[in-house]
Amino acid sequence: MQELEQLVNAAGAEFAACDDSAALENAKARYLGKSGSLTEQLKNLGKLAAAERAAAGARINEAKSAIEAALTARREALSQARLAAQLAAEALDVTLPGRGLGTGGLHPLSRALERLTAIFASMGFSVAEGPEIEDDFHNFTALNTPENHPARSMHDTFYVEGGRLLRTHTSPVQIRFMEEHAPPVKIIAPGRVYRVDSDATHSPMFHQIEGLWIDREVSFADLKGVVSEFLRKFFERDDLQVRFRPSFFPFTEPSAEIDMSFGDGWLEIAGSGQVHPNVLKQVGIDPQVWQGFAFGMGLERIAMLRYGISDLRLFFENDLRFLRQFN
Ligand code: DAH
Repeated sequence: MQELEQLVNAAGAEFAACDDSAALENAKARYLGKSGSLTEQLKNLGKLAAAERAAAGARINEAKSAIEAALTARREALSQARLAAQLAAEALDVTLPGRGLGTGGLHPLSRALERLTAIFASMGFSVAEGPEIEDDFHNFTALNTPENHPARSMHDTFYVEGGRLLRTHTSPVQIRFMEEHAPPVKIIAPGRVYRVDSDATHSPMFHQIEGLWIDREVSFADLKGVVSEFLRKFFERDDLQVRFRPSFFPFTEPSAEIDMSFGDGWLEIAGSGQVHPNVLKQVGIDPQVWQGFAFGMGLERIAMLRYGISDLRLFFENDLRFLRQFN
């Protein structure tokens, strides 16, 4: 039965050459299928003499077992290989270092504003806000600004649809707050303001902080005290000098520009004054009973001084090399 041995060898070789299970099942059919080579051998048993039949049958069954064993072994090997390939394809390198979280940071103007807000809060001021798109009434008229005042001109003010405008200062928040709240009033109002202006020291958008304190006896002396105290705390310099220079604003009387100095020249940082009686009347507050001060300070200006920044435009370029220095 030389033939059977060859059959087993051939099957083993053919199975070994199969690279996937579909090929392997086809190969199996060629040996063990209905018309497979081994099945043919079994069919031929009938033609043998009865005496030889039992022994031949046993040998054929042995061959069949051998072929089945080869088949099972090959199936096993293929499935191992498939698993290994899948594991390799889906492998994660758990030893790779993580990407880490990119931590954000505060913009220097936000930093300066947080610092400023905390200092004013310690003096009893709360924060108020108002819209950046304003109407003429709140931005000018209610602030005692005459109809022909140059600040209203198209040269200085961005007008938008519907006769409205981008607020040119934070002072309209004074009006909006006093329309809603009876005195006493003690607020700061930080926010963006807009003017038609652009160079190294002017940006068409910048930030102001409005201050307003109205009570029965709030005087110009309180203005000087509050602003001086704020500036000394903000800059952490006891040698800081503050100067109040007579000026004019329609909504204050008297009015003053506030300058500060570290001993090497003066820098203007705010406008201020005692709130004009007409402004109080406009919001239904009796100026015979209530009085107080207001100021409007430039945030960029004091942030530049605090952090030693020379060009205003750096704040708005969003260059990370600049911004990273503050975090
Ligand atoms: N609103 C003024 C400006 O933008 C600044 C200012 C001056 C605000 C005097 C005030 C003030 O509250 O009392 O130039």
